[in-house]
Amino acid sequence: MPLNIWNSMGIRMSPFFQEALDISETSSNPIKLFVGRQQENRDVLKRILGSNSNRIIIAGQPGTGKTSFIQYVKHQLANQHGFAVCSSHCRVPHNFSATELGVEILRSVVLSLKNALPSGKLEKLKGFKEARSLVEETDLRTWQLSLSAYGFGAGLGSEKKNQPPHFVPGQFYDALAQMTTAASTEGVTGIVVHLNNLENLEQDAKEAAFLLRDVRDSFLVSGLHFLLGATSEFYTSVVSAHAQVRSIFPEPISIKPMRFPEVKLLLERRYEYLQIEGMDFVPPVTWDLVEELHRIFLGDLRGMLSALEEACLSTLVVDPLSLNQALPYLAKYYMQQMTQTLSDAELVHLSRLANFSTDEFRQADVRKHLKISVGQVSKVFNQLERAQAIIRTKTQGRSQYYALSGRARLALGEMLS
Ligand SMILES: Nc1ncnc2c1ncn2[C@@H]1O[C@H](COP(=O)(O)OP(=O)(O)OP(=O)(O)O)[C@@H](O)[C@H]1O
Ligand SMILES: [Mg+2]
Repeated sequence: MPLNIWNSMGIRMSPFFQEALDISETSSNPIKLFVGRQQENRDVLKRILGSNSNRIIIAGQPGTGKTSFIQYVKHQLANQHGFAVCSSHCRVPHNFSATELGVEILRSVVLSLKNALPSGKLEKLKGFKEARSLVEETDLRTWQLSLSAYGFGAGLGSEKKNQPPHFVPGQFYDALAQMTTAASTEGVTGIVVHLNNLENLEQDAKEAAFLLRDVRDSFLVSGLHFLLGATSEFYTSVVSAHAQVRSIFPEPISIKPMRFPEVKLLLERRYEYLQIEGMDFVPPVTWDLVEELHRIFLGDLRGMLSALEEACLSTLVVDPLSLNQALPYLAKYYMQQMTQTLSDAELVHLSRLANFSTDEFRQADVRKHLKISVGQVSKVFNQLERAQAIIRTKTQGRSQYYALSGRARLALGEMLS
């Protein structure tokens, strides 16, 4: 008796899951499902293997595969080149202090070394005790949760947890430098620190540039290699905002939209990985549908996968779901979402944007077409962006370009035209 619609197609679970691929051995979205990106991979490895310390921004539009790509790079560095890595990444919310960022980096280094060193070695490493007390004193509660991963849980009081002390960035630098040097004498080639979703910092670019400047020395520790996942705007707005920050970050490596043959391979890998032995496999969707959604979502893999999953779950078709079956449903589904988040006036703006002659547009290009004033245009764009009806595509000089999102295109029945 099938437990879900996927079982009746001969697969264990949805092949359209939207989580990033992960290097941990227990992951249900394992890194072995990774496809393509070989040129970008060579570029990153060349930089990392060619220098003792790196700060590499992996830039790309939302959902293009930045996090999965960084996971893939970490996987190779660990398996083929003796680097210390961990599957988790550091989050950097926009209101982070230099102390909190310092702690995130230390925590990540400790977790990576835990994976790379023989058991018992980490605790004896020079700098480890200092790292531990910096982390403990800064954010006791978070640290206690993660401590269980490597067995330090006992003996920490909770009285200080609401008053995290403020450390000077030099203290983080010293602990990082000592541990990194000590690890290299133990045979660790280098340590990777993965900072993710740095677009969170764009909210206040100046403030964020100061934050990066405050931890600048930690970014320069020999033996540490920083991989930063971000949108392209992070480099233009945050990194470029401060000369001392700009000077330590080279131009980003861009993750371009995946081409259709690779998307096809991506799904074929997932189908094969999820197949239930002894059962016949029925492809959930036709390649025509995948190709069309890939075109509509402009390289946003997460958006495309989510649309495929939504269409399959809601239509409950057991034969491969076709373009003609899926599109009317998806148009209705996304239109409903748009009407819940946008006012009637904003929906009118959206449909006017859909009739605009070019795919990519700047605010100034469409203002007249939308029949709104200079003062109104950025407000309308903000609202459309918040409703995921438009997305940022590129920045050129001071110009920000936008396009309709896949969701909006589907909602507006772009396909049927
Ligand atoms: N090279 C790849 N091979 C196989 N699957 C991939 C690849 N790149 C991305 N994916 C899949 O596409 C989806 C989106 O990928 P990912 O989360 O890495 O994108 P992202 O750019 O980090 O997204 P966001 O901007 O939301 O952080 C995930 O389901 C992931 O598993
Ligand atoms: Mg990501």
